Amino acid sequence: MNIYKLGIITSGGDSPGMNSVIKTIVNYSYINNINCIGYKYGLDGLIKNNYIKLSNKHVNNIINLGGSIIGCGRSKLFYSKKGRKLAYRNLLYNNINGLIVIGGNGTIDGINAFNKEYNFPIICIPATIDNDIYGTDLTLGYDTSLNTIIKSIEIIQDTANTNNRIFIIEVMGKGSGNLALNSGIALNALYIIFNNNYNFKKLKNIFKKKFLKSNIIIVAENKKIGNVSKYFYKKLKKYIKNYEIRYNILGHIQRGGSPTYIDRILGIRFGINAIKNLIKYKKNIILGIKKNKIINISFYKYNNKIKKIDKNILNIYKKLYL
Ligand code: F6P
Repeated sequence: MNIYKLGIITSGGDSPGMNSVIKTIVNYSYINNINCIGYKYGLDGLIKNNYIKLSNKHVNNIINLGGSIIGCGRSKLFYSKKGRKLAYRNLLYNNINGLIVIGGNGTIDGINAFNKEYNFPIICIPATIDNDIYGTDLTLGYDTSLNTIIKSIEIIQDTANTNNRIFIIEVMGKGSGNLALNSGIALNALYIIFNNNYNFKKLKNIFKKKFLKSNIIIVAENKKIGNVSKYFYKKLKKYIKNYEIRYNILGHIQRGGSPTYIDRILGIRFGINAIKNLIKYKKNIILGIKKNKIINISFYKYNNKIKKIDKNILNIYKKLYL
C-alpha cells in the first residue's frame, strides 16, 4: 500500500525500548517518503487529536531513553464506542493511512475492538514490562525491567546482608508473575511467591536451616491482596525469631531507565517490520518474536488468550521452591 502518513501511539504503561521503536519508525519512514505524527499520551491523544509532527530531528539521541517521548497513558474513553468514533474521525481528518500502536494487552484489546468497527490499517507492537502478551516470547521492555529489578534488589541485598535482615520485596508484573519468577531465580532468592504459587510450610522451614542461601524473598504484586510484601511479612514474622524482617515495594523504578541492548534491538526490529507489514497491505496484526524471528500474530489468533509461563522456568521453580 502506498503509505503516505503514519500515526504512532505509545499506550498503556510505558516500557523501555518504546523510543527505539519511535526512532526506527520515523527514520525508516523518511527513507520511504512517509510522514509521521505521534499522538500524545496514548489513545487519548488520538481521541483528542493531540499530536506532534515527528521528523528525523525529533528522534535524534533518544534510543537510550526510557519512557516514551510522545507520552503514554491508559484511555478509558477508547473503551467506549463514542471514543472510538472520535478516534476514527481524527485519523481521517489528519489524512493518516497507517497506524502503529505500541502497548500491552489493554491497548491491543482496545485496538481489536476498534478494528471490528473500522478495519483500519493498524499494526500493534507488544510493549510491556510484564511479558504477558500471548504469542510472543518477549515483549518490549521486559528485559530492561528484569535487569533493573536484579540490580536494585542486589543493592538492597548489600544492606540486608550487612544487618542480617530478611527482605520481602514486591515486584510488578500484573497477574503474570514473570518478573517475580525470573528475577527471583536469577537472584537465587530465598523464596519466590507469585500468583498464589507457594508452599508456606516450606518457606517457614527454610529459616530453621543454619545457613540461608540468600536473604531476599520476592513476591509478585497481587491486586487482590494489595500490599503483598506487608501481607507476607505479617504471616512470616510469627515464625521467624532469629532474623529481623523488612518489607519493601520496588515500584516504578522497574518501569524506567535506559533500555538494554535486547530491548533496543527488539524495538528496531519491531519498528521496521511494522512499516513493512503496512506497505504489504497487512493489518490486524500484533508483532511478536519467536526463536529470535519476528512473527505476525493475527488478532484472530490472539483473541485475548492468556500467555502461559515458560515451562522450563516453571520447572526450575517447582524443583527449587515448592
Ligand atoms: O503493565 C505494566 C505495569 O507496570 C504493571 O506491572 C503494573 O501492575 C502496572 O503497570 C502499574 O500501572 P500504573 O503505573 O498505572 O500504576
